[in-house]
Amino acid sequence: MSASLASAYRLEPVAEVGGSLAVPGDKSISHRALMLGGIARGATRIGGFLDSADCRATLEALRALGVQVERPGSGEVLVTGAGPGGLRPSAAALDMGNAGTAMRLFMGLLAGQHFDATLVGDESLMRRPMERVAKPLRLMGARIDTEQGHPPVRIHGSTALRAIDYTLPMASAQVKSAILLAGLHANGVTRVTEPAPTRDHTERMLQAFGVELERHGATVALRGGQTLRGTTVNVPGDISSAAFFIVAGCLAAHSGLTVRGVGVNPTRTGLIDMLRLMGARIEVRPLADSGSEPMADITVHAAPLHGVVLPEHLVPLAIDELPVFFIAAACASGETLVTGAGELRVKESDRLAAMASGLQALGVQCELLSDGMRIHGGTLRGGRVHSHGDHRVAMAFAIASARATAPIEIDDVANVGTSFPGFPAAARAIGLQLREQGA
Ligand code: S3P
Repeated sequence: MSASLASAYRLEPVAEVGGSLAVPGDKSISHRALMLGGIARGATRIGGFLDSADCRATLEALRALGVQVERPGSGEVLVTGAGPGGLRPSAAALDMGNAGTAMRLFMGLLAGQHFDATLVGDESLMRRPMERVAKPLRLMGARIDTEQGHPPVRIHGSTALRAIDYTLPMASAQVKSAILLAGLHANGVTRVTEPAPTRDHTERMLQAFGVELERHGATVALRGGQTLRGTTVNVPGDISSAAFFIVAGCLAAHSGLTVRGVGVNPTRTGLIDMLRLMGARIEVRPLADSGSEPMADITVHAAPLHGVVLPEHLVPLAIDELPVFFIAAACASGETLVTGAGELRVKESDRLAAMASGLQALGVQCELLSDGMRIHGGTLRGGRVHSHGDHRVAMAFAIASARATAPIEIDDVANVGTSFPGFPAAARAIGLQLREQGA
């Protein structure tokens, strides 16, 4: 049964995991490669593209905007860029599915177009905050309506945006990227300053497409009116997908486990630093760069983990890995305290609440805080947990079976296909006993 059809997982406990595997392409980079390719002049070839529901939403939206996108082979995409002023209005609303990145980056990309567009999504996305992007774009002169802060997002055609100098109120790569993409269509130099470093794939990729961009400390600046030139993008393996196996390895890879070809951009490797603080044995062996993004093979050996007070600066560098980090903390000796992670409340689900209730269902003592969690590590029983329709919550609890004392059942797992369609097979390949149930 394919992952996207299963409605639940059941995992028998296992004592050991191991082996060597590659994970699918990076989701953030795949979205950006499509979008920048779509507005560039000339052809863009993407290798290692993540063929997941989220990235397909971006691909179909670009087609609806008149961009020619072909799929010559598995993991390969050929985008014929529309060039400056080349996007066309879509007759229908653009459906972003579950993909927050797609919706927020398209807001920036479409804010300076001469036509109207409407962005919608699935039930989870329709609940997520969009004013964080709409507000700075309005300061640039864009005309954008949200429904009390949520989608549908209606973007009205504007002719000229003006550059702004904007300090982000929260650490968010999506908001930063949306402003930079709008800045391409603005008069003057757009500057974005972030309160803490976040993933910089947009900045790196804009440069790869020939855009001149300056970075000074926490500020990125770009001049509007620059034309992107089509290029080749090699997408590395997604560290956010590798994260599940890295934690599984820390818990039970007594003879080692290797994840090959993982993107190790330093704005994404916070999980490795966090696990090392807990005593993990993780070796990162750099590979030749895949263009502008560094790559590595990562080998993990099981080691006893101990609780930590997590330094807050690591949180944005591992924002999507915190669900599986909580599993590591639940298996560590002593107490782990995570704070400064309030952003987790506005992800695909309220990830703090979803993880706390799942951990409690498995017998873990934990205390939910407004911006984090206190976890008392120890024994994980089996039990039944709900993913709240959140792919990363579902996959995180699957990893708990590498330490649980009884079977774990996870409900509502269909959304694993938004980021990691092959997860069940990959989990079985490292030795987890995962069965897909229901249709
Ligand atoms: C992403 C940024 C992060 C992350 C999301 C992908 C991106 O969101 O959680 O999964 O590709 O820019 P925020 O910008 O909301 O932190």
